[in-house]
Amino acid sequence: MCGIVGYVGPRVATPLLIEGLKRLEYRGYDSAGVAVMNGSGVETVKEAGKIARLEALLATTPVHGTTGIAHTRWATHGPPNQKNAHPHMSQDGNIAVVHNGIIENANSLKRMLEKRGYKFMSDTDTEVLAHLIQETFDGNLEDAVIEALNQVEGTYGIAVISAIDTHKIVAARKGSPLLVGLGENEYFIASDVSAILAHTRQVVYLDDGEMAVVDRNGYRIIDLNAEEVLHKKVARIDWDLAQIERGGFAHFMLKEIFEQPHTVENTMRGRLLLDEGTSKLGGLNLTDEELLAFDNIVITACGTSWHSALIGEGLIEELARVPVEVEYASEFRYRNPIVDEKTLCIVISQSGETADTLAAMREAKRRGARTLGIVNVVGSTIAREADGGIYIHAGPEIGVASTKAFTSQVIALLLFTLKLARLRDLSLLRGREIITGMIELPQQIQQILDRAEEIENLAEEFKRASNFLYLGRGYNFPAALEGALKLKEISYIHAEGYPAAEMKHGPIALIDEMMPVVFIAPHDSVFDKITSNVHEVKARKGRVIAITSRDEPALEGMLDYEFRIPETMDILMPVLASVPLQLLAYYVAVKLGSNVDQPRNLAKSVTVE
Ligand code: G6P
Repeated sequence: MCGIVGYVGPRVATPLLIEGLKRLEYRGYDSAGVAVMNGSGVETVKEAGKIARLEALLATTPVHGTTGIAHTRWATHGPPNQKNAHPHMSQDGNIAVVHNGIIENANSLKRMLEKRGYKFMSDTDTEVLAHLIQETFDGNLEDAVIEALNQVEGTYGIAVISAIDTHKIVAARKGSPLLVGLGENEYFIASDVSAILAHTRQVVYLDDGEMAVVDRNGYRIIDLNAEEVLHKKVARIDWDLAQIERGGFAHFMLKEIFEQPHTVENTMRGRLLLDEGTSKLGGLNLTDEELLAFDNIVITACGTSWHSALIGEGLIEELARVPVEVEYASEFRYRNPIVDEKTLCIVISQSGETADTLAAMREAKRRGARTLGIVNVVGSTIAREADGGIYIHAGPEIGVASTKAFTSQVIALLLFTLKLARLRDLSLLRGREIITGMIELPQQIQQILDRAEEIENLAEEFKRASNFLYLGRGYNFPAALEGALKLKEISYIHAEGYPAAEMKHGPIALIDEMMPVVFIAPHDSVFDKITSNVHEVKARKGRVIAITSRDEPALEGMLDYEFRIPETMDILMPVLASVPLQLLAYYVAVKLGSNVDQPRNLAKSVTVE
């Protein structure tokens, strides 16, 4: 999704801005641009396509100056071409604006501005803001921005510079993440901490309704409503630079798949109490009594996080016996959900910034529910606004297709389930068994990764297929959904995940000798059932790829390809089964020449509704 970087300080701004934009590339974008104060005015260079094209343009038309803003755009209003790329300039050329989010009343503001003689150069909603700030400008940039924002409806994270009120960046936030990075005599603005991590670890997060004014001498955070200065906490970022670099791997996605033995371990670290058969979760902010008092649990999320939510539903209902509903965050608030003060709402988000998920969480809060965030990005909006939470500690996930966050989310849900289930009826023995199984997972994941080459060969064989079906039962049904999602996200091959038995009610019509069907068929409590589904596919000449966990006489002669994973309990199986499916998607995509880390049309974190 769109990215923002800003710099003010003694150094030349453009290289820092470009470097920051590159660190944000992973979020997904289709054009990019910079605006820099060059001593006499604001100069803008922008280009459609990748940052490399912007760099090429900057090589022929360099912009010099020590204050600047930059942007990667993911089109919402108007096509991704040069004129729609940010920054956008005011008509007098004195003000440049970069913007994430959507100005909902852009059309009426545009009509009003056109009547006053403003000419629009782009199809974007953002340009409205640039002219509006010119209209309200009276020598002081922050005053003009406040006045302009008072007329705006919608969401924004903005950064603004002016040729008249110079060497200053004004940034404001409502609904789109933004932070101020504090360096030595230099300050940064960014929509994502990765953009500035190479230069500072000290940040101040803006909350909705706040504005930051930064110049070389310091920064001020202002409450936009009360128009008073706020004294906010400075946060320290623990992530280091190596974590946001590829470190010898061909792609971030591959690096992140291979990190999973460690990331899964990190999620569990310090949280397992083997003797007591339970977990210790410091951030829940709930007493045991409060935890026991909920009547029901709603889990809400989007994309891959929604798949982990489905696994969480199974875990909580099976082990803790509390009713759970899983809701797509985007649907949740539009269907009058049954949520009140007896509901615990678990919100799952890698980024902690997904607009739909954030809105669903706020809606649940509004209805009186207690909220719990399962989040990766420390300090993100969902993490800060939730009543309590569990950080998954998977480290920065840069590949757009989520991998390590998924497995860690499942672990976090398991930790939560253990805690709740042990407070309820789960026996000490069973609690200890589960923990013993969890402790083995990192090494079992490693065993799978050590055989990645086998999956690479499999990918070669199946890369020409135009459809895939992924089937699983029980806990492996969400894993099938996730496997299919991975494949379609990065290889653009159509893939569907289904509960294996449900195949009979529709997808079976698609099966012929061209259709690869991936079965997640480990030796678990539903193995016998899934065997009959394999037979049904084979009888129709489908090509069967099976993830199994031992020699199965019942499958003899039925499988075109088999990949063996270690045995574990049913409830832990989706963690292991997901790894070969991630690898399969990865290798197919690489072999088809896709841009694995930045697949077309997708964004890492979708911060618009
Ligand atoms: C985007 C990403 C997905 C991700 C989803 C939810 O669509 O491309 O990979 O699963 O958002 O993101 P979140 O950060 O809330 O987990």
